[in-house]
Amino acid sequence: MDINTKFRMNSGYEIPLLGYGVYQTPADIAEDVVLHALRSGYRHVDSATAYRNEEPSAAGIKAFMKEKGVPRSEIFFTSKVPPKMINYEDASKCIDETLAKTGFDYIDLYLLHAPYGGRRGRLGAWKALVEAVAAGKVRSIGVSNYGVHHLEELEAWIKETEAKEGKGKGGILDVNQVELHPWLARPDIGEWCSERGVLLEAYSPLVRATRNEEGVLRKLGEKYGKTPAQVLLRWSLQKGFSPLPKSVTKSRIEENAAIYDFELSKEDMESLNTGEYAPCAWDPTVSMD
Ligand SMILES: NC(=O)c1ccc[n+]([C@@H]2O[C@H](COP(=O)([O-])OP(=O)(O)OC[C@H]3O[C@@H](n4cnc5c(N)ncnc54)[C@H](OP(=O)(O)O)[C@@H]3O)[C@@H](O)[C@H]2O)c1
Repeated sequence: MDINTKFRMNSGYEIPLLGYGVYQTPADIAEDVVLHALRSGYRHVDSATAYRNEEPSAAGIKAFMKEKGVPRSEIFFTSKVPPKMINYEDASKCIDETLAKTGFDYIDLYLLHAPYGGRRGRLGAWKALVEAVAAGKVRSIGVSNYGVHHLEELEAWIKETEAKEGKGKGGILDVNQVELHPWLARPDIGEWCSERGVLLEAYSPLVRATRNEEGVLRKLGEKYGKTPAQVLLRWSLQKGFSPLPKSVTKSRIEENAAIYDFELSKEDMESLNTGEYAPCAWDPTVSMD
């Protein structure tokens, strides 16, 4: 495994496993930090309409492409339909706006940010993603913050739509992006996704730096000569997740990518099985709307 390691999604497209998250990255510095991340080896940027930094993030990508002569196909860019826009009309509009703001010919991955909007809203917004794939605007699609009951609802709709309209017409689920770390390992969602080849993207993989003093992280950090953040990211990769660490600090951007020269042993991976359910962010996976 190295920084270029990719996962082939159900769509057939590949995604670099290590992503660079830009939630809460101010728009006025996003271009600069995205450029720094790409110079440090990351090839995957996770943004969202709600983060209000799609445009400067794309500018960072374009600056890097120009600087290094790298084609667009070497960089993976994700955006999301905001939680308050989970319906057909708004989702369709949102995708067009991302294309306009970024100036990209296509978006690599588009997600529904949260399972809000009720059944009609969720399935309508999904239909908008499916149409965007057919129109060549988006390559791969998925969801975020979906619990197993939301995933089941979507899968049933995809099957019904395929039965009526033909194979592939209901869309292909590629990704579920959820909060994932040793204090929230979500085995139920993990099992559902891995049985279907759906990639789990791990957000808040550093637990927002709130657990760096935990004994188990300090111990493993000392053993491997790595920081708590690097141990957490290694755990995520070894679990088969796609971690999306965020940092606006250049030295940490580099630190978070320097995770390919060690491997946690089986016992050390097990020592991080806390069995806890302790989100550090919001948790729409449990929403019953
Ligand atoms: N789909 C969703 O609902 C959702 C929700 C949350 C996040 N996400 C995605 O996941 C990404 C990451 O999640 P997150 O931003 O919530 O949390 P995170 O990546 O777990 O933590 C980010 C925090 O950790 C600090 N940090 C980063 N590297 C560090 C290091 N090596 N040592 C010590 N502190 C470090 C950062 O500080 P500095 O920036 O000051 O360096 C920042 O305060 C987001 O940017 C976004 O792309 C998605």
